[in-house]
Amino acid sequence: MINKLFLDSASIEEANRCISMGIIDGVTTNPSLFSKQPKGDFISHCRKLAEVCNGLPLSVEIFSSDPDLMFSEAMKIYKEIDYTNLNIKIPIGVGELSVIKKLSDRNIPVNCTCCFTYSQMLLAARAGSRYVSLFYNRALDSGENSNEILENTNNYIKSLNLDCEIISGSIRKTDDVITAWSSGSHIVTASMKIIEDMCTHQGTTESVNGFLQDFSEWIS
Ligand code: E4P
Repeated sequence: MINKLFLDSASIEEANRCISMGIIDGVTTNPSLFSKQPKGDFISHCRKLAEVCNGLPLSVEIFSSDPDLMFSEAMKIYKEIDYTNLNIKIPIGVGELSVIKKLSDRNIPVNCTCCFTYSQMLLAARAGSRYVSLFYNRALDSGENSNEILENTNNYIKSLNLDCEIISGSIRKTDDVITAWSSGSHIVTASMKIIEDMCTHQGTTESVNGFLQDFSEWIS
């Protein structure tokens, strides 16, 4: 299984940085991440993110809470952003499952989000989600066994040969990334800060400083 890394951010600058380094396989956003960005036009911001993603999957969440309105809102967003690899984020729920089914029947990729249990992930996958997103640490906070959920969901997807990948979000430290991948998460979506932390180590800093110190003494 290839371990994929997505950036969890609505920042165009952060997306541009990570994609230009070639280190991420996609971008996920959510309404709270958008609220951290300068106020502006939602659709044009999404279009700029899509331009930076340049073919990579980009998840954008609907923001109505009524399942009856979700389908029309999703279709509107998909059409207006006009990006083939746009994945519409729909939170898991009973009414939402029929929205997921209708969208996936129209070949609109859905990222079913806000999952906290194996049964939610399983039902989201069965309804046709292209991605099912486990809120890894929020689920742990609520007493769930996130690693077991990932393992079970991965086995379920494999057993039915579903075109569905697991995303682990709600990542709080670099260890979560490795643990989620090794527990069966195809993808981990992490903040810029986590991705930066994944690239740093005290030992690296000390080694580089030591080399430069030794060399500066020798060369002088
Ligand atoms: C995925 O995109 C989720 O929306 C996100 O990772 C949630 O993370 P949080 O628990 O830090 O809000």
